[in-house]
Amino acid sequence: MKIAFVGKGGSGKTTLSSLFIRHLAADGAPVVAVDADINQHLGAALGLDEAEAAALPAMGAHLPLIKDYLRGTNPRITSADTMIKTTPPGEGSRLLRVREDNPVYDACARPVELDGRAVRLMVTGTFTDADLGVACYHSKTGAVELCLNHLVDGPGEYVVVDMTAGSDSFASGMFTRFDITFLVAEPTRKGVSVYRQYKEYARDFDVTLRVVGNKVQGPDDLDFLRAEVGDDLLVTVGHSDWVRAMEKGRPPRFALLEEPNRHALRLLRTAVDATYQRRDRERYTRQMVHFHLKNARSWGNERTGADLAAQIDPGFVLGENVTASA
Ligand SMILES: Nc1ncnc2c1ncn2[C@@H]1O[C@H](COP(=O)(O)OP(=O)(O)O)[C@@H](O)[C@H]1O
Ligand SMILES: [Mg+2]
Repeated sequence: MKIAFVGKGGSGKTTLSSLFIRHLAADGAPVVAVDADINQHLGAALGLDEAEAAALPAMGAHLPLIKDYLRGTNPRITSADTMIKTTPPGEGSRLLRVREDNPVYDACARPVELDGRAVRLMVTGTFTDADLGVACYHSKTGAVELCLNHLVDGPGEYVVVDMTAGSDSFASGMFTRFDITFLVAEPTRKGVSVYRQYKEYARDFDVTLRVVGNKVQGPDDLDFLRAEVGDDLLVTVGHSDWVRAMEKGRPPRFALLEEPNRHALRLLRTAVDATYQRRDRERYTRQMVHFHLKNARSWGNERTGADLAAQIDPGFVLGENVTASA
């Protein structure tokens, strides 16, 4: 299951992603956690100290390796240089799985221990001005998009991405790569304006978007969110003393998280798991192709000097039954 947490800066994306990751890990579920937010804080929210977080390898620095591994023996992708962030897999491509070792995880993922259970953490790396361009060849989130487009995950396996709701993810197609997108919103006009924007972009792409209200205190906050986002509101989370203690560098055991917040996390997981039955693998692949053609036309063909439409394998559908090539 591929899950995104998006929202305004400061709304609580990183906090709620990290709580959800801890919740899954506590249950023994395999998790790949990805920090694709402009402010790279997921490692810290998962309990890494400054030095450990700083030592995490950046996916952005390993793009050539990622591309070379994923293209495998795909005859339609003749070099890593012609592979852009939207290049879709096809016959011969290598796929990633949540539960395996592979060179991409070796280079880019590190285990993080959470109350005795380990999850894999990957981070894009610190963003610079150049990363925020809409059509960037070396885009750091591009590394994440490539991995998501080559990742086959089954029920009970989770890829949780903490990401920004910026224009980058809309231009590239990144926002369509998830089974479910949790939009974290505080009960404020700004909080819900990001929701409206996202909803508007997502409308034509069958994106499953649910709002998670955060820092919600009392009935007035709840009424406000209900009035503004209607049925898209899945659950609300209040101020958490557990989170505050964690931020002080003294995380209590996760089992001590407040019961209402644990309940909220269970609801998130139920919502995630329910999307599996509705998965449409053909649509997923079709959208991948749609955004690839769009990026090819707008900058990719010119930048690589190749006709990137030729990279599309018309017979390929990404799904768990696809066997990765050696
Ligand atoms: N439910 C909560 N209870 C207590 N503190 C919270 C909660 N949600 C967020 N915070 C705090 O608010 C700040 C911003 O949250 P963060 O998750 O970093 O936002 P984002 O990733 O969206 O920018 C952090 O200091 C975080 O600890
Ligand atoms: Mg954040």
